[in-house]
Amino acid sequence: MPNAIEMLREDHQKVKDLFEHFEETESGDKKQIVETTLRELEIHTSIEEEIFYPAARQALKGMDGEENDVIDEAWEEHHVVKLLAAELKKMRVTDERYEAKFTVLGESVKHHIEEEEGELFPKLKGHIEEEELGERMMERKEKLQQQPGSASKSRSGTSKARSAASRSKGKQSRGKKARKASAGRR
Ligand SMILES: [Fe+2]
Ligand SMILES: [Fe+2]
Repeated sequence: MPNAIEMLREDHQKVKDLFEHFEETESGDKKQIVETTLRELEIHTSIEEEIFYPAARQALKGMDGEENDVIDEAWEEHHVVKLLAAELKKMRVTDERYEAKFTVLGESVKHHIEEEEGELFPKLKGHIEEEELGERMMERKEKLQQQPGSASKSRSGTSKARSAASRSKGKQSRGKKARKASAGRR
């Protein structure tokens, strides 16, 4: 049976590995890593916002002296992650600030994970129905995984889209780069 907190921790690890993998990767795979990461983040934040956070808020309400600030902050941190993700989706991997933006996204995500694992999860231990929640979250996760995400359509769709994109990019990039370079000299 899935356990809610364990499930979230596994997602966290997966995403942290992806950010690390990005740093170590030299070239062509970066775009693919970014797409996979954004998709993972999309599904993870949805599950938390739809199921886990409302349950956590409820549980914290019942605890003496516990405030809901931690949940409010978590929502805001998700918001920042979504803004950066939306910007990245509009960028090309060759854009000057693409890597910087993804790196900053990684730093925000890692900070957020630390707060969840270091603060929120320990507070909730024994105060939420981890198995029951986990089951609902797993069900939702499977549904979301079947839906085409906005980061990428599907695994096979992604590679098709990628090769199509790189074909057309090859044609356009020289002109774009030249324009950019001359704009910089002005
Ligand atoms: Fe999380
Ligand atoms: Fe979160």
